[in-house]
Amino acid sequence: MEYAVAFIEGDGIGPEQAAATKVVLTKLEETRGLALNLTPVEAGDRALKDRGEALSQESFNIIEKSDCCLKGPVGQSAYDVIIRLRRELDLYANIRPAKPLPKVPCIASPDTDLIIVRENTEDLYYGLESADEEKATATRIITRKASQRIAKYAFELARTRKKAVTAIHKSNVLKKTDGLFLLACKEVSETYPDVQFSDMLVDAAAMNLVRNPQAFDVIVTTNMFGDILSDEAAQVVGGLGLVPSANIGNDFALFEPVHGSAPDIAGRRIANPTALVLSAAMMLEWLGRERSDPEAIEASKAIHRALEECLRSGKVTPDLGGNLNTTEMGNAIAIQISK
Ligand code: NAI
Ligand code: MG
Repeated sequence: MEYAVAFIEGDGIGPEQAAATKVVLTKLEETRGLALNLTPVEAGDRALKDRGEALSQESFNIIEKSDCCLKGPVGQSAYDVIIRLRRELDLYANIRPAKPLPKVPCIASPDTDLIIVRENTEDLYYGLESADEEKATATRIITRKASQRIAKYAFELARTRKKAVTAIHKSNVLKKTDGLFLLACKEVSETYPDVQFSDMLVDAAAMNLVRNPQAFDVIVTTNMFGDILSDEAAQVVGGLGLVPSANIGNDFALFEPVHGSAPDIAGRRIANPTALVLSAAMMLEWLGRERSDPEAIEASKAIHRALEECLRSGKVTPDLGGNLNTTEMGNAIAIQISK
């Protein structure tokens, strides 16, 4: 099958990860009946500097016309790129799996396998802020419709897994906003009697993610809590360099690492490419399911197998104790794919 994939390399470590990921995707195209037709799209801090806009209309149009988008991390302009894309393309479900990988040191027990389903379009990230010199205000938007929609997504997902959903909120303090979110989750839960439903306050959830991560299956939560908890979950299973994410709408999706542009290590060629490579694997799985294309699903599985073999044999970047650079780790995954 042929696809059109818009590819944002991003800022900081983004271009380094993107180059490594391209090698992996090219190898898949060479070895399987798959054409991804990656179209480079400028967006982020570099686009802002060079063209005066973090996400130009031209870039937006290319993305919108594609089948999906693969995105590296962007820097300070993240709000103008990713929050805008999530909202304008109505990519309402942010899916963030956290599961330990072979031989990766982490505090989670090996049976940990959780997914954070984060509402992606509203909450404090809607950007309704105002300020004068003495006082700054942010408005939190939570709607019943968006809360029900994300809850439904979480319950459908749980049906394909261990059939347990935990709604995470702070409704004892944010009585109106998180009260509405929790109520919507409870309403949806009644239509899924086969799925176990529970809820947890966000502060307790932050603790339990460290203490007992294997107890979670699907977590459903609001935008900002989901953002924070997913960085935590990433570290619990081995580090931010490893975890991918999907931003999913009704007929379009965008895939990106959970992490940002990592300016502290940018240009040193030590960034772990895994988060972007696994985002590409999530993309292939989504394309495969959306277009009923078994070859795309097989390609996604091939990435997982190849990556796991590299992890087992220590072909990894310094964050995981290895001595490969970003390019070399990408090459190692690609070589494994062709075996
Ligand atoms: P970050 O996620 O970029 O980095 C946090 C820490 O994790 C750093 O120590 C970094 O070196 C490490 N790290 C991240 N990815 C890694 C990888 N692949 N391999 C090895 N180590 C890795 O968070 P930070 O520094 O707070 O944010 C940097 C920039 O990223 C900010 O300008 C922010 O706006 C942007 N950002 C963009 C996002 C996006 O494009 N969706 C998401 C999050 C942040
Ligand atoms: Mg984040």
